[in-house]
Amino acid sequence: MRCVSWLLLGTSLLVLGPAVTGAPGQCPNLCHCHGDLLHVICFDVGLKKIPRVSDATRLLNLQRNSLGDIPTGAFSESKGLISLHMQNCQLKEIGSQAFKGLTKLIYLYLSNNEITSIKPGAFEDLTELTYLYLDGNQITELSKGIFAPMINLFILQLNNNRLRELRPGTFTGAKDLRWLHMANNTLTTLQPGSMDEVENLAILHLDGNRMATYPIAAMSKLRVVEELTLGRNLMRTIPDLAFQSFGRYMERLHLDNMGLERGKSAPLCPDPVLILPFIWFQFSDGAFTGVTAIKSLHLDNNRLKTLPKSLEYGTLTNLTLTNNPWTCTCSLAPLRRWMDSSRIRPEALCASPALQRGRQVRDSPVFSGCKVKQKRTKKGTRQ
Ligand SMILES: *[C@@H]1O[C@H](CO)[C@@H](O)[C@H](O)[C@H]1NC(C)=O
Ligand SMILES: *[C@@H]1O[C@H](CO)[C@@H](O)[C@H](O)[C@H]1NC(C)=O
Repeated sequence: MRCVSWLLLGTSLLVLGPAVTGAPGQCPNLCHCHGDLLHVICFDVGLKKIPRVSDATRLLNLQRNSLGDIPTGAFSESKGLISLHMQNCQLKEIGSQAFKGLTKLIYLYLSNNEITSIKPGAFEDLTELTYLYLDGNQITELSKGIFAPMINLFILQLNNNRLRELRPGTFTGAKDLRWLHMANNTLTTLQPGSMDEVENLAILHLDGNRMATYPIAAMSKLRVVEELTLGRNLMRTIPDLAFQSFGRYMERLHLDNMGLERGKSAPLCPDPVLILPFIWFQFSDGAFTGVTAIKSLHLDNNRLKTLPKSLEYGTLTNLTLTNNPWTCTCSLAPLRRWMDSSRIRPEALCASPALQRGRQVRDSPVFSGCKVKQKRTKKGTRQ
């Protein structure tokens, strides 16, 4: 794509004819056209309406114009479009059939608008669409089947919106989706069944949401996640087997800034009628069961004193642990053993016991007396 546009730029001076509005066979008023109308560029030129372009046009760039909405049939004469750029156009709503006729469109950029609602059927006809950018809008919900026409969708970018929950049927039809970005929304949960149709996701970004518990039912349908970000969710509980269904593939996991704890804590607002004096917060010992390929793990800014027993350190090449109240006793010995054998020795300060406070885990002498636990051998297999 980029090569083509550079080639075409060279010839652009030749084809800049007198600009006439309206007629789809000519370069729209105020716009620049390259390569016999192949590229129509109307970047920040004060357009108020979507210009008509012919089916010869492959790329239409309408960025930074105040367009407000997309009327049905706006692109009905532009059936050849492959790439449509509408970032920063003050779009407020995507109406039903907004992109009707764009059966060849591969790239659709709608970032940084003011979109609050996407009407059912808005994406009708977009069967070739592969890259959809909707980040930086005010979308609160996605109706069932909204992406259904997009059987080729590969990247869906929804960062920085106001999504509240994901329901079953949201991703119906988008079976090839690989990258799903939903950071910085207000998601409280991913309902069970909401990820059933996108089991091939490789990258899932959920950082900066409001999930208080790990949505294990929805997540356990995923099979090949390589990168998962959950940072900045106040998620105190991560259960056993949380990542197991994709544990062989997961290479990068972000669990920073989450208030994660292991062990019991006093409730935030002690209740005189409450029978239990403590709430048991669980970053469960079995949380990492089945996780066998992890390279990069981020646990900074939590309330961790120790690490889940199921964490296997062997594959790690990047680990961040700062701002946690580590307890430097033998329960952290596996971490220290990994530090001693690894080229990276991340920062991690001991908060307790008192004698170790302020020392780095990597320097503390307390671990020298810890027993190395041998991997259990099955009975009868020893020679
Ligand atoms: C989400 O918001 C945080 C805090 O405002 C910001 O630092 C981060 O870059 C944002 N992430 C994305 C993907 O935009
Ligand atoms: C470790 O991961 C963080 C976050 O992804 C990244 O910024 C940093 O560059 C990585 N460090 C190394 C040594 O790979």
